[in-house]
Amino acid sequence: MNKKFNRTTVTSALPYANGPVHIGHLAGVYVPADIYVRYLRLKGEDVLFIGGSDEHGVPITIKAKKEGVTPQDIVDRYHNIIKDSFKEFGISFDIYSRTSGPVHHEVASDFFKKLYEKGEFIEKESEQYYDEEAKQFLADRYITGECPHCHAEGAYGDQCEKCGTSLSPLDLINPKSAISGSKPVLKSTKHWYLPLDKHENWLREWILENHKEWRPNVYGQCKSWLDMGLQPRAVSRDLDWGIPVPVEGAEGKVLYVWFDAPIGYISNTKELLPDSWEKWWKAEDTRLIHFIGKDNIVFHCIVFPAMLKAEGSYILPDNVPSNEFLNLEGDKISTSRNWAVWLHEYLVDFKDKQDVLRYVLTANAPETKDNDFTWKDFQARNNSELVAIYGNFVNRTLVLTHKYFGGKVPERQELTDYDKETLKEFSDIKLEVEKLLDNFKFRDAQKEAMNLARIGNKYLADTEPWKLAKTDMSRVGTILNIALQITANLAIAFEPFLPFSSAKLRNMLKLSSWSWSNLGSIDLLETGAEISPAELLFEKIEDAAIEAQIKRLEDTKIQNEINSYKPEAIKEDVSFDEFMKLDIRVGTVLECQKVPKADKLLQFKIDDGMGGRTIVSGIAQHYNPEDLIGKQVCFIANFPPRKLKGIESQGMILSAEDANGRLVVVSPSDLVTNGVKVC
Ligand code: 2FM
Ligand code: ZN
Repeated sequence: MNKKFNRTTVTSALPYANGPVHIGHLAGVYVPADIYVRYLRLKGEDVLFIGGSDEHGVPITIKAKKEGVTPQDIVDRYHNIIKDSFKEFGISFDIYSRTSGPVHHEVASDFFKKLYEKGEFIEKESEQYYDEEAKQFLADRYITGECPHCHAEGAYGDQCEKCGTSLSPLDLINPKSAISGSKPVLKSTKHWYLPLDKHENWLREWILENHKEWRPNVYGQCKSWLDMGLQPRAVSRDLDWGIPVPVEGAEGKVLYVWFDAPIGYISNTKELLPDSWEKWWKAEDTRLIHFIGKDNIVFHCIVFPAMLKAEGSYILPDNVPSNEFLNLEGDKISTSRNWAVWLHEYLVDFKDKQDVLRYVLTANAPETKDNDFTWKDFQARNNSELVAIYGNFVNRTLVLTHKYFGGKVPERQELTDYDKETLKEFSDIKLEVEKLLDNFKFRDAQKEAMNLARIGNKYLADTEPWKLAKTDMSRVGTILNIALQITANLAIAFEPFLPFSSAKLRNMLKLSSWSWSNLGSIDLLETGAEISPAELLFEKIEDAAIEAQIKRLEDTKIQNEINSYKPEAIKEDVSFDEFMKLDIRVGTVLECQKVPKADKLLQFKIDDGMGGRTIVSGIAQHYNPEDLIGKQVCFIANFPPRKLKGIESQGMILSAEDANGRLVVVSPSDLVTNGVKVC
């Protein structure tokens, strides 16, 4: 049974305001949500797009402590960076607010009070770990210790990452506070719990029976949670940053961040529309859609709906399109390892290329499985799709119109069968794009939109108007009229995906009215209407720009290896006399060259102050030979000579092996006389 909806409330997960946003955020949540919203708006539907920053929770307090500032300072800083990034990438929120603001505090507090007064919570005392040095209770993630199953060190209070077992902090052997490093003590504390077990039956029916159309990853995760059986969930925490629990006897306690954050969608709506917010959340003819990443599924499909149902006056989500994760060059994106493409940095290197990133992230969207972003793919999609197909078609059409018709839309005469076939193909594409967008299949929808440009390119290549120009200008006019109409269609079809380019194209075409219903029309541009000179929609991205990005990531990898390097255990003792048997000297490299047919070997001629010697050393993969000439090095002078690839080596050059395996020759820090001893 298809329900009739009159408006759509679209929410996108509120990012934590403890760091900037990266391509994983954009690909997972904000680009798909924005495509959907722009599509609905183009169709003339009533839609509201709600965003904001999630500003509570323990990680923010810890970051603040580390930096010696307040949690408010942290969230103020990142809220603004995140908000600006979204704006720059055209994420068209109707409001982007924040959960540390007064409206949210009041709405979330009232929501809790209502559930409390309705008796929807249970109260429980329990023993929890407390850090006496930091004077705070410890969230599960902030207790580490030995895993009781695999005995790995460093297991977290909620999970051992080594063997994957779910844990409770009390399971850990030798628990340690991740905040102060001290041994935590158990202390009794009272909390409020949402009894999810009581909601299990209706949740089971609502999701498993009535929402079989949800994406398989979402449906599957919900099913496995429901099949495991739901447990009561604490909705308060002992912490001094957050929304105070608004009941007596709750001093020093705040709402759990996952209780208050989704209410942020409601409070942001109320902040935007103080007098009419309710219909967006309570009217039966409103459709609620949550765009999220896969780690948020349980909160949006089980916990938040249970809260809404317990409150009693809210609608439930109609769909929760959740993406899997986007990796970067084969590795998981990670803030702490700086393994990310940060949005604010991208725009410094690729100025005005927001649409290129939007395009690539959608073309590669992790809709059904984790996907990988690579810079080579980014370049290839830009150069061989955006530039070569879309940009090329638009450019050719506009240039030819200026060349043959002085920049005015030529008249369309009778259509040939081939013209009609082409037009039929592109009106089929409209229906296909719609069907895909209605089903949250953004990757395929964008592919179809690009097919429209492919059709245009093929049409020009097949009809070759430039060849007809000498003989049949009226036919040239018809061809270019059709090509221009396809161009105008592209501006509409791509508006949800590539809004900046669509705006540019609309300006070039002087297209003043456009809506989704016009898509497929061949009368978007009137005969005789003037168009502006052609400007390039997309530019080729050169190898050097891509290599610079890859180099940056390689440097990050090296830095991470260095940061996580643990020195090897020290070897067993040697006596001073034994050490003194080694004769280490300093010499200057006079000549250095690669040893033929040996990847690793370099042949040195060293001025050792004693007439010179030859040394062969295995560092060819770490140096250009010419960079070493003139450098002073340390070498062991009393190894017996040995032959390497037929060359007699008279010693060994000393190198330090870096954390990433790179060999770096050891040199005196100041110039010394060749032949002196190292001791
Ligand atoms: O995972 C996250 O980044 C959370 N801050 C998402 C919250 S979504 C909603 F509930 F606000
Ligand atoms: Zn384990």
